[in-house]
Amino acid sequence: MTRSPSAEPAPDAAPPSGCPAAVPLSGPGFQTDPQAVYRAMRREHGSVVPVELPGGFPAWLVVGYREIHQVTSDPELFPRDVGLWNQWPHVPDDWPLLPMVGRPLPSIYFTAGEEHRRHVRMVVPALEAVDPFEIRGHCEQLADRLIDGFCARGDADLVAAFCEPLPVLVLARLVGFPDDEGADIARVLKDLADGGPEAQSAHQRFGAHMARLVAARRAEPGDDVTSRMLAFPEEFTDEEYMLDLMAITAAGHLTTADWIGNSVRLMLTESDFADSMARGRRSVADAMTEVLWEDGPTQILAGRWPVRDTRLGERRIKAGDLLLLGLGAANTDPLIRQGAPGAPASERGGSGAHLAFSHGEYRCPFPAQEIAEIIARTGIEVLLDRLPDLELAVPEGELVRRPSAFLRGTTALPVRFTPVPTTGDLS
Ligand code: HEM
Repeated sequence: MTRSPSAEPAPDAAPPSGCPAAVPLSGPGFQTDPQAVYRAMRREHGSVVPVELPGGFPAWLVVGYREIHQVTSDPELFPRDVGLWNQWPHVPDDWPLLPMVGRPLPSIYFTAGEEHRRHVRMVVPALEAVDPFEIRGHCEQLADRLIDGFCARGDADLVAAFCEPLPVLVLARLVGFPDDEGADIARVLKDLADGGPEAQSAHQRFGAHMARLVAARRAEPGDDVTSRMLAFPEEFTDEEYMLDLMAITAAGHLTTADWIGNSVRLMLTESDFADSMARGRRSVADAMTEVLWEDGPTQILAGRWPVRDTRLGERRIKAGDLLLLGLGAANTDPLIRQGAPGAPASERGGSGAHLAFSHGEYRCPFPAQEIAEIIARTGIEVLLDRLPDLELAVPEGELVRRPSAFLRGTTALPVRFTPVPTTGDLS
């Protein structure tokens, strides 16, 4: 970590390294049709696009599949070391994108090089040891409980009532919280995601929950992620445990919520999926895969920061420039897309893997990907089993996406269905 943020005036809106015409990384196109925005960028600028972040900060958006591979496969030249950013002297403390870009902190998400690998050695085996059957069991029970909250009504906003709370409740159990604290953590993360005046105190509450959890599990270890992290033989400070637990929960909850929401949305709106609404379980898996290619939760990822001046695509990149990884754009790069345009992932052919979880040393850890997959698949299966005639309650055109170029999710998913009894009434 090299520099820490301070509050000096924002710079003139100079594009990186003297590039003409940086593209503003904001505006309704990212919400309504990001793929059209990516196509236009690729046409005009190639695979590495000069962009301007709100506040006038310059960055590069990498939209080429090969270039993202190149960057993520070379962590020595392109570490995820936010401290290297050459704009820190200009970034005010209240810059709205700070939560997206991050700050240097001693956690798995905000360290680089050997320090990052030290955290990976402790965190990843603790996630890997979670029993998939246990995740599935928690997920079925918590999904049933959430559905019980609205199933007798015949209508619901699935995002608020189901997609958002399910992953955080499951993750809270896996890291070792009792259920009543899980519900508060769900509220905390909602306040954080909403931004606004509650966000600051939400962050403190989030940290306080994790500090209590670390103390509780140290006093009385259990069969959970936190206890396994504490049992790892290398020394970590309480702050590091706490920040790693915050990173696990924060990295996992909204992404998995949006994976569920985007998949259910696809199943309710695309005729191919809607027609198979007798919906064998296969169509759940197909919809989830399709979403990771076409409509992934993390569209743009901040980021990577080169340690020295270099070239990428046709561009000269300066040391400390911010490289944003356009994961959503790279997934639809024509260079890796074979088969008919718009063909579903299953018919696409080609050997490339999607980049929804990124790639290389800093990618989403494999056991975390598996946890996300089990939560999303089990959640959707339980939902469709309980409410088999689920349908949208508004025209598709009225569904609104998150107002963010970085995250791809739906803000509300109003549905209706034939009311059914709660699980309590069935027993
Ligand atoms: C659909 C769900 C998910 C998506 C799309 C997703 C995506 C990502 C992405 C794009 C990164 C950053 C990779 C990079 O910088 O190259 C990441 C990192 C991470 N994710 Fe996930 N994630 C998901 C679910 C989860 C879950 C459920 C967990 C926890 C159980 C989790 C834990 C983490 C952690 C700890 C990191 C930091 C890894 C590191 O720095 O080594 N993620 N994820």
